[in-house]
Amino acid sequence: MDYENIYIEEENHIAIVTINRPKKLNALNKRTIAELHTAFRELDEDRETKVIIVTGSGEKAFVAGADISEFADFSVEQGWQLAAEGQKLLFDFVENLSTPVIAAVNGFALGGGLELALSCHFRIASDNAKMGLPEVSLGVIPGYGGTQRLPQLIGKGRAMEVIMTAGMLDAKKALEYGLVNHVVKQEELLPLCLKIASRISNNSSVAIKYAINAVNAGFKYDVNGYAAEIDAFGSCFGTDDFKEGTTAFLEKRKADFPGS
Ligand code: COA
Repeated sequence: MDYENIYIEEENHIAIVTINRPKKLNALNKRTIAELHTAFRELDEDRETKVIIVTGSGEKAFVAGADISEFADFSVEQGWQLAAEGQKLLFDFVENLSTPVIAAVNGFALGGGLELALSCHFRIASDNAKMGLPEVSLGVIPGYGGTQRLPQLIGKGRAMEVIMTAGMLDAKKALEYGLVNHVVKQEELLPLCLKIASRISNNSSVAIKYAINAVNAGFKYDVNGYAAEIDAFGSCFGTDDFKEGTTAFLEKRKADFPGS
């Protein structure tokens, strides 16, 4: 697929996916969602890619939401379809990806933009970032998982207030709420993400895949997280990474994980 609205840079096993519609504050239209789906799928399939960072182009916005111009005249059925397809292609897809995904929130993360950041495995923000779910100010609700993932991260009462007021949290408040893990100056955002990604990339990608799966299991209504953890833990013992990790420890050397 040729990308029009995103670009990808990769170095040292870390891919940076940049959403690039700066004139529309990187709003997620249908094509951008399809491009992101393809990019995440291909990067996840590429065993050389150990960590993915997703960010927005420019200094103003991560993503200012779903592209409002695309759905302003939708019917009930089309609205349902929009949410269902988007969740499947992008938001659930990213959350359940085997490769760790870090959101580098470099400005406005509103509506679908915050929902994308919420789908990532964790978030780091620049100090100019502003986050919110303004959907009720448009007469709609968050439809890309925001009503589920925001309460999981910051608690039900806080999420209710954010959603009902349609207000924006600044980076400081987002940090206080645990919505983001770190806040740094804009020029330090990608360097910090790369530093953390580099630490992640030294570890077993297979074990990380199982860990993502086990953590996510606890947030699924039809899965027993503890049972999922036992299964994932057991599976690790059949991997080459486990053999290498334990052997390297006993031989007092740094592990060189084969990733299988
Ligand atoms: N969908 C489509 N276009 C969007 C957009 C979105 N979610 N967010 C921003 N844009 C477009 C604007 O229409 C404008 O386009 P134009 O220059 O062709 O008129 C351009 O991006 C720049 O945005 P603008 O509103 O002029 O910037 P601003 O600095 O005055 O305001 C925001 C920034 C983020 C506060 C404002 O753009 C905004 O409220 N956006 C919508 C946020 C939202 O409700 N998202 C949830 C969608 S469900």
